[in-house]
Amino acid sequence: MSTELSVAAADATGVDETAVDHGQSVKSVYVYEAPVRIWHWINMLAILVLCVTGYFIGSPLPTQPGEASANFLMGYIRFAHFAAGYIFAIGMIARIYWAVVGNHHARELFSVPIFTAAYWREVWSMVKWYSFLSARPNRYVGHNPLARFAMFFVFVLTSLFMIVTGFALYGEGLGMGSWADKLFGWVIPLFGQSQDVHTFHHLGMWFLVCFIIFHVYAAVREDIMGRQSIVSTMVSGYRTFKD
Ligand code: HEM
Ligand code: HEM
Repeated sequence: MSTELSVAAADATGVDETAVDHGQSVKSVYVYEAPVRIWHWINMLAILVLCVTGYFIGSPLPTQPGEASANFLMGYIRFAHFAAGYIFAIGMIARIYWAVVGNHHARELFSVPIFTAAYWREVWSMVKWYSFLSARPNRYVGHNPLARFAMFFVFVLTSLFMIVTGFALYGEGLGMGSWADKLFGWVIPLFGQSQDVHTFHHLGMWFLVCFIIFHVYAAVREDIMGRQSIVSTMVSGYRTFKD
């Protein structure tokens, strides 16, 4: 009786019950807390600066016209690289801290359950979905299992490698006995000599570039084809399920 009354009332007020029912079936879950989201976008900008300036450190521009003393182009490029390097490294420390104090999705970046069979079944189902071999993906509140693998084994490990080798090279510039030399100086003899560290630091950039190409492709593809919100989740923090 009361349901009939409420439907009658809704009709009287012109509310579209079909739209209301649909709205109620859409579920939102809060996944990424503000520090994770802010870190993601700052980290993205820092890496963009590091890749562009790093590329020019490795392949400098042709000689500039005029007196050498009137040009400081490489100086500015290196300065931008080191400033972004500090932001990237401090951001990584802050992100590790947030993995400890944040919600359980904040820890997904640093832990991959590689020893459970169920995890690998989910990875395989994502591989099939990305290869256009299955019609529908599964629904995940946090990162999907394949994303977790790439984020830890490609992004996190390469980033730590870039920070350690980057500050080892930076220590050479600051000079013997500087804090960077004391903390990271051991890296240079470990690789052989300075040029070897340069080469591997440079190679690390291309690992990150490959990760970024696939990551952005997957994020945009999932936003269009997946069953849940993706890019807006890294903006608002909420994952919305579409069915
Ligand atoms: C330098 C470029 C980028 C890097 C290194 C990067 C790295 C990452 C990392 C490490 C995460 C995991 C976040 C966490 O758990 O803390 C993540 C998530 C995410 N990124 Fe990026 N990102 C980059 C650019 C972008 C761009 C341009 C977009 C947008 C198109 C994007 C969209 C996303 C989304 C939507 C997520 C969450 C995915 C999910 O909900 O499972 N990223 N990214
Ligand atoms: C996403 C992270 C990073 C990328 C993609 C990157 C990229 C590069 C590249 C491509 C080079 C040129 C290597 C060569 O061919 O000789 C370079 C050099 C260098 N990077 Fe990075 N880098 C990153 C992080 C860092 C960090 C965190 C630091 C620490 C301050 C750093 C400090 C340096 C230094 C000192 C050099 C050598 C500069 C010179 O010889 O003039 N890098 N980087």
